[in-house]
Amino acid sequence: MRIFKIGILGSGVISRTYLADIKAFYKKLDVIACADINIELAQKLASEFDIKKAYTPEELLNDDEVEIIINLTPPQFHVELGRQIIMAGKHLFSEKPFAPSLKEAKEVLDLAKAKGVKVGCAPDTFLSSGLQSLRYYLDAGLIGKPFFLTANMTTFGVETWHPNPVPFYKKNSGPLFDMAPYYLSAIVSLLGPIESIAAFDAKAGRTRHIYVGPHAGTEIETEVPTHYSSILRLKSGVVVNLNVSFDIYGSNLPMFEIYGDGGTLTYPDPNYGGGTPRVYRKEQYTDTVYQKTGEALTRKEKFYELPELYPRVKDYSRGIGVLDLADAIETNSENRANGTLIMHITEAIEGIMISSEMGEFYKMKTTCERPEPLKPGGFIDEI
Ligand SMILES: NC(=O)c1ccc[n+]([C@@H]2O[C@H](COP(=O)([O-])OP(=O)(O)OC[C@H]3O[C@@H](n4cnc5c(N)ncnc54)[C@H](O)[C@@H]3O)[C@@H](O)[C@H]2O)c1
Repeated sequence: MRIFKIGILGSGVISRTYLADIKAFYKKLDVIACADINIELAQKLASEFDIKKAYTPEELLNDDEVEIIINLTPPQFHVELGRQIIMAGKHLFSEKPFAPSLKEAKEVLDLAKAKGVKVGCAPDTFLSSGLQSLRYYLDAGLIGKPFFLTANMTTFGVETWHPNPVPFYKKNSGPLFDMAPYYLSAIVSLLGPIESIAAFDAKAGRTRHIYVGPHAGTEIETEVPTHYSSILRLKSGVVVNLNVSFDIYGSNLPMFEIYGDGGTLTYPDPNYGGGTPRVYRKEQYTDTVYQKTGEALTRKEKFYELPELYPRVKDYSRGIGVLDLADAIETNSENRANGTLIMHITEAIEGIMISSEMGEFYKMKTTCERPEPLKPGGFIDEI
């Protein structure tokens, strides 16, 4: 097994999840350096996770030992720092969103091609045990032919838990850039590419109160819509209703539910790695036409849990996309969270924004294949 030397750029909240999971589960990935624009944050992270080198961003880019850099800086820096990482000859794994527009995503990916390095991007949650199991059941025809999916990301923003919530309400952020990628990558990996989009946006209020961290007690002015409702038509003909919101305190909407001519599959949360799919088969409903007995009536009311068919890393986990990238470098193959998928997801986000701003349908220009599914029965550190 080849071991890859990894550097982390951006030593904030999510770097700790990456580091904990990579160290615990992915032996192929050896994080040897971390960096931050604020060197003290890099030093703190290095001492917490026993990382050899704490660097400035420039020092990280200049370290010849580092092969892959994971970019965990705020979204506003992803394009520029992604370029710098590629120019330094390193493979890049970027947190989402990859870029604010299809044009910029393509420029970064073209640069990577010219420099001969590979690129991967979060969300990698579609590679998790829960969503891969859901895909297995879907492909096996458990609910017949799918025709409709509803996905609902309903939260009340990040200012109740994130120490630095301000960037989440700046241009090119908000729920569309921050949370829709999880849902869009799950949708595309399960049911294939998007063809067209109709969307509307809303905003519950202009300002947000910060509850925690150094800015607690102050207000943030929002630069972006904090709610989007959209309808997507997939190339397969499946219709998707996707709502993403930072304005909802509580909801009974399902987070992720797929409807087919043979039943319904439901899934807890595409932002999480683990998650038990549940099924409702059409017989549970039609049986009661003939059998009005207790047992049939009980089955009519229930969704049934389906086993997860892949190793469950953790409920909330990050890092499998970096393993996917390292494996693709080693075997000279295409990683699953690859450039074509990145461009399609980036365009879908932009398309939702354009449709709601212009009040018209958006026709997608890019397309992609569904990423290869994982093989059931593998080990936790195999992809
Ligand atoms: N926080 C989460 O739960 C979470 C979950 C999944 C994905 N993400 C994504 O991860 C990324 C980082 O989020 P976060 O919550 O860790 O943010 P954060 O603000 O906690 O950390 C970002 C770090 O990047 C550093 N930084 C800023 N500009 C830099 C630059 N030019 N060069 C080097 N370092 C720089 C900051 O000093 C900070 O330490 C975002 O893209 C976010 O969407 C976050």
